[in-house]
Amino acid sequence: MNKKIIRILSKKNKSKLVCLTAYSKSIAKILDKYVDIVLVGDSMANVLYGHENTHKISLENIIQHALSVKQGIKKSLLVVDMPRGSYNSVKNAEKNSKIIMKKTRCVAVKIESNQNNFKIINHLVKKKIPVMGHIGYTPQFKKKFKVEGETNKEQHNLLKEAKLIEEAGAFSIVLECLTPHAAKLITENLKIPTIGIGSSLNCDGQILVTDDMLGLSGFYPRFVKKYANLNRIIEKAVKKYSREVKLNKFPKKNNFLNGIKLRN
Ligand code: KIV
Repeated sequence: MNKKIIRILSKKNKSKLVCLTAYSKSIAKILDKYVDIVLVGDSMANVLYGHENTHKISLENIIQHALSVKQGIKKSLLVVDMPRGSYNSVKNAEKNSKIIMKKTRCVAVKIESNQNNFKIINHLVKKKIPVMGHIGYTPQFKKKFKVEGETNKEQHNLLKEAKLIEEAGAFSIVLECLTPHAAKLITENLKIPTIGIGSSLNCDGQILVTDDMLGLSGFYPRFVKKYANLNRIIEKAVKKYSREVKLNKFPKKNNFLNGIKLRN
């Protein structure tokens, strides 16, 4: 088994897993120092491409961004989302996950559960492709956002789904927008780590979309904590640049190239 995956598994019940998304080298390079897992998520559809949902992200889109992210990564585990439709059969899942792994040299792929694709996960794991599962709100398959795990029946069904994903061989599982009770039940009953997003503290780790927590995306539901307001910082800088260009205050003499040095 891959060493980075062994490290992730060994953290269960010991220390929390820190995970974030990245779509580019510059962000990945910063994250890599502080996180266990970097996910090239298909959330890029909403965040970067302005799509209404994640459905139109292609294999090429994901691979292009993963290639950039890979350049920023040294120590963390790189996971790449399989786009919608790229794992709609065992054959497609094997073919497309192999393309992603080969082209991007990521360590694992993530597959959203449709409560029916356990065999696909199992097949990929048998082919030595590590898989991260994803249950709860799964944007590739569910049209309407809903918190899951309110009733006993829902909790029981979510636990069953999570167990089947674990039995299929996934090395971890994202729990998206589950009630604290459902997250606790699953985390306590699984051997693999659970990674929560909008699913309370009752998970083995947490993940957020980096652009949301940095205040860049404009999407701030209650489960997102804004750790910075990059929109404001960028706007301030661009405003200053605009003013200085118009007033002939930029470039200054020390920004001129005199044929000797490119950098100060
Ligand atoms: O696409 C993504 O960024 C994700 C995370 C929200 C878990 O799947």
